Amino acid sequence: MSFEFWNTRYATEEYVFGTAPNVFLASQAHCLKPGQTALAIADGEGRNGVWLAQQGLKVHAIDFSPAALAKAGKLAAERGVEVEFEQADVLNWSWPEAAYDIVVAIFIQFVPPPERERIIEGIRRTLKPGGTLILQGYTPKQIEYGTGGPPSVANMYVEADLRRWFGDWQIEHLAEHESHISEGAHHHGMSALIDMVAVKPV
Ligand SMILES: C[S@@+](CC[C@H](N)C(=O)[O-])C[C@H]1O[C@@H](n2cnc3c(N)ncnc32)[C@H](O)[C@@H]1O
Repeated sequence: MSFEFWNTRYATEEYVFGTAPNVFLASQAHCLKPGQTALAIADGEGRNGVWLAQQGLKVHAIDFSPAALAKAGKLAAERGVEVEFEQADVLNWSWPEAAYDIVVAIFIQFVPPPERERIIEGIRRTLKPGGTLILQGYTPKQIEYGTGGPPSVANMYVEADLRRWFGDWQIEHLAEHESHISEGAHHHGMSALIDMVAVKPV
């Protein structure tokens, strides 16, 4: 989906994905330690990046939509935390090597292969050895639910994809499930989800 699509979607006072963190991310709070560095990929209106900062992490949040980033900055100010927000296209970003203790990839299924592989390579590169990736996305069954996410099966992923990309990491949690979520107007209802927590080898 294009820059115009996202920037238009965010051009409203409403936080279209809500201001509460993603439920799976919040359930992984035990993985986080104050002072750790975190990257929130395609963080949108900041609900996840701001929550990570509230847990005491030093957060770098990137997204290509200025409308989203303006709302994210407002949310951070309201919550009294600092987040380093950057307007960046993740398909054309530097992914600094071994830079972050935590990488958060929540609903970043905006491109199909082969572009998607560039994001995976970036994640693999930018996490520090011993660092943790926390990811949630939709599986192909989500097309039937139509309660959020892109309308294209090619953008979705299943366990086998995640094992192919991160099978050499320590996969601490990997599960496909169907659950009800309520994360703003655009992620609402019964949903076909996939969750993963994986640690990059030292
Ligand atoms: C489904 S939203 C999820 C936002 C956020 N992760 C959350 O869970 O609330 C997808 C996000 O990807 C961003 N995005 C799409 N393509 C992008 C790209 N090429 N570079 C950076 N951000 C992109 C959009 O602006 C949007 O904020």
